[in-house]
Amino acid sequence: MVDARRRRFLSALVGDVVDRPPLWLMRQAGRYLPEYREVRKAHGFWEVCRTPELSTRVALEPLRKFPLDAAIVFSDILVIPDALGLGVKFEAGEGPRLQRRLASAADLDAWRVEGAAERLAFVSNAVRHLRDALAESVGIVGFAGAPFTLFAYCVEGGGSTDFMGARALLHSDPALAHRALAILADVASELLEAQCAAGADVVQLFDTWGGLLSAGDYLKFAVPAIRRISDAMRARGRKTILFVRGGTHLLPILDETGVDGFSLDWRVRWKDARAQLPDALLQGQLDPAILFAGEAAIRSATRSLLDEVRSDNGGKRAIINLGHGIHKDTPIEAVVALCQEVAAYG
Ligand code: CP3
Repeated sequence: MVDARRRRFLSALVGDVVDRPPLWLMRQAGRYLPEYREVRKAHGFWEVCRTPELSTRVALEPLRKFPLDAAIVFSDILVIPDALGLGVKFEAGEGPRLQRRLASAADLDAWRVEGAAERLAFVSNAVRHLRDALAESVGIVGFAGAPFTLFAYCVEGGGSTDFMGARALLHSDPALAHRALAILADVASELLEAQCAAGADVVQLFDTWGGLLSAGDYLKFAVPAIRRISDAMRARGRKTILFVRGGTHLLPILDETGVDGFSLDWRVRWKDARAQLPDALLQGQLDPAILFAGEAAIRSATRSLLDEVRSDNGGKRAIINLGHGIHKDTPIEAVVALCQEVAAYG
């Protein structure tokens, strides 16, 4: 028997009637949780990802605290560059660092494409372990980095505010960029399919930096790579959601990606996104900053979003979420207030 929360999540994915839209939060299993920080005192980031007992423990923590309808597997978008041999390190207090960068055709030729899927088996193992622990209680979201965002980290070697090097490389060597994006897409496809086969109900592509591109460049470089993924996933009956941060200017072309759903960031109005994407599943899109504004503001913003979503076709084809990952300093009581407000809406 599928429990009420997972049923609500699955119904939203296929556009069936729901009592209220389901809820999960991007980055819900992370540093804002004291229990996560406790685990990280004793274990390295990669160790948590690669040890099913630990990844499941941290993925379950938000479910124990809040009435969420789905869990997200504990992993990272940078597992793909690491599996390709770029050597990803997560140092405390700093962002991620890649030991090798992508600057030339020789760099790309050195990528270890063969065997990458096997080296990523720990992610689907984590999903399988999480599904065993959750049984039918809630949905599971699998994920991967979207090709352009992965490309951006591969070129830059770490975080950046503008990813100038990556954006320049698209134009200085478009053939190299297209080749790298296609490889990243194919490895992501395999990783996402493996997560679905292991028990994920839907997968999300995180294009955290896609919004840096002009609509023309997104169409030229990012869309064909995403299309490789969405075509492969659709052929196997899997559902894919695309999150593009800062992608309001991309709404007119996002349909070309061929994905099933879009995770909206907080800047766009729900109804404007709906007008551009009439048939898609939409997810979002509370500003993560609302969670620092106090209980009354949180409840009021959450209720406005729920009302707006309900006025869009009775709240079908919708998932409530934040417009970006939850901030690491978010107070727990704020998340409680948001979740209570959604859970009480029926
Ligand atoms: O609850 C969850 O969503 C956990 C799974 C998850 C992580 N990273 C774990 C993680 C997910 C979905 C991600 C996605 C991710 N990783 C993105 C896209 C989403 C976004 O926020 O835009 C990006 C850009 C990354 C790359 C990355 N990984 C960065 C920039 C960092 C450092 C700072 C940060 O954002 O937390 C990481 C490390 C990381 N990934 C942590 C966690 C919990 C913190 C590591 C630690 O314990 O110190």
